[in-house]
Amino acid sequence: MVARKLDAGLKLDVFRLAQDSASGEVAAALRKYLAAPPKGGLKMASPDLPYELLTDGGDPARGKAIINGHLGANCIACHRVDSDEGSEVGPMLRQIGGLRTKEELAESLVEPSAKIVAGFGIETIVLKDGTTLAGSVTKENAKSLDFRLPDGKPQKINVTAIASRTPPVSVMPPMLGILTPEEIRDVVAYLSGLKPKAAKSAKTKK
Ligand code: HEC
Repeated sequence: MVARKLDAGLKLDVFRLAQDSASGEVAAALRKYLAAPPKGGLKMASPDLPYELLTDGGDPARGKAIINGHLGANCIACHRVDSDEGSEVGPMLRQIGGLRTKEELAESLVEPSAKIVAGFGIETIVLKDGTTLAGSVTKENAKSLDFRLPDGKPQKINVTAIASRTPPVSVMPPMLGILTPEEIRDVVAYLSGLKPKAAKSAKTKK
């Protein structure tokens, strides 16, 4: 694992065994591994958990069960995934595997506000007349922006009327802590397989 020659799908499993090991030698190897994050790409999901442990392996069937049934994570309270159930607070995930890499999916789960999907972030805008508005910017140009208030009502705002504006944040809670690293890996495995029909049949790999 330290030499990065281990089968990618087994990394998290070996990492967990190493964490539980009483051997000083294993502990030293583990420290060495954590001190040298992979080159390129995302580094650490948390101080002792590299992202690379969350992107390979995992069980799509368990991931699907978590998305549809995990009460703490409550994905379908905000997303529509593989059925018509679910909500549209967050983006539709039905074909998300065709749009995002596994690494991007893992980041979406661990740090939702790191990259905000356009139109889905929540911003606070203070107008020059003192009004404070919270909601999502759905469209914007140099002169005005289309704002969606929490009740779904659209509002056009002139840029000249704006006194201040916060950067968008996600309402999605960071999932590490709500889900275990193993569960996040399962969810990534499931979501990465959700692809548009055409891409699915073109790719024969199962
Ligand atoms: C409280 C509502 C809420 C919950 C609960 C929630 N999400 Fe989200 N999610 C959002 C919102 C809003 C966004 C869009 C803003 C952003 O980029 O974070 C989002 C974005 C995402 C994205 C990125 C989509 C893209 O197009 O890149 C993924 C993947 C995702 N969520 C998966 C999940 C999964 C899986 C769960 C359950 C483990 C979950 N979400 C739970 C609201 C939620």
